Amino acid sequence: PRVAVLFGGRNSEHAVSIMGAGSVLEVIDRSRYEVVPIGIARDGRWVLASGEQRYAIEGGELPVVDAQSATLALTSGGGSLVAYDPGSIPVELGHVDVVFPVMHGPFAEDGTIQGLLEMAGVRYVGSGVLASSVGMDKAYMKTILAAAGLPVGPYVAIRDRDWRTERERVLKEVQELGWPVFVKPARAGSSQGISKAADLEELERAIEFAREHDPKVLVEAAVVGREIECAVLESPGDEAPRASLPGEVLVHGDHEFFDFEAKYIGNDMSLSVPADVPQETAEELRAMAVRAFEALGCEGLSRVDFFYTPDGRLIVNEINTMPGFTAMSVAPQLWAATGVPYAELVDRLIRLALA
Ligand code: DAL
Ligand code: MG
Repeated sequence: PRVAVLFGGRNSEHAVSIMGAGSVLEVIDRSRYEVVPIGIARDGRWVLASGEQRYAIEGGELPVVDAQSATLALTSGGGSLVAYDPGSIPVELGHVDVVFPVMHGPFAEDGTIQGLLEMAGVRYVGSGVLASSVGMDKAYMKTILAAAGLPVGPYVAIRDRDWRTERERVLKEVQELGWPVFVKPARAGSSQGISKAADLEELERAIEFAREHDPKVLVEAAVVGREIECAVLESPGDEAPRASLPGEVLVHGDHEFFDFEAKYIGNDMSLSVPADVPQETAEELRAMAVRAFEALGCEGLSRVDFFYTPDGRLIVNEINTMPGFTAMSVAPQLWAATGVPYAELVDRLIRLALA
């Protein structure tokens, strides 16, 4: 089968996506699949990746899809829908059996690319339109998770109009959460736009900062607890999805939380698998991860992130419908520890999409 590996994208997780695609391209079985690597530049232009494409951080520099240096295929940004750029020679991509969108964040993990592929009648790896959009918007995600009976932490969602016209009320609601709080863009990832606020002044600044990523903002009560993550993989046929062993994320060095720097630049994070928690907690957590996956109607692979509080409660922090996907990322490492090595995980996801 012909597999298009899609990476980059119009959002702040552009580089993270490229790194994931680099790993996929390294391990994908070329005796079985014909591989077409396609990058989406920051401006939305689609390019056939050349041999020059860099997939790793080099000298502290993040990789990028450069639309100038590559052959232009089609464009999905700048207000045009999907059209060939009139200024260049279009490239016929031909039939593609399955697309693997190794992409995160808005216009990538949020149902938009999934919708485009549905329209084109092309199969793809991972969740469909609805699960992807719900998973991207932290406010709707929590609504759905709570409706499925899963424990979520206290939060206040601030829509653009709330912030512009009802600031006083909003600030009052937030204060009821207690300090400190975490302020997040509703739709972003890799900790971009997130900051911690310990008082009103910091809060206003944090909200403005988050609003640079998304006019909709979420303020969450800080939960004291260990961060435990679990990956869920769809099973073939009628079998229920499976949960990986849970892993604990440990952050080293001087970070207030798992910020972008800790996650990708400083390598200041490590994963301890299986997480050192009581057996019954691990079982409960895995069952909850599967429940979260099914509540959103996810497909393929997701990663569900929990807090485990000192008094033994589990709280679902979030679900990621296209979790970080380098070989060293959390979900692939969790599956490797559970008996599904990275190359096999890639293969399984492609087969699930083709089935
Ligand atoms: N959004 C990043 C890629 C993650 O969830 O791993
Ligand atoms: Mg996320």
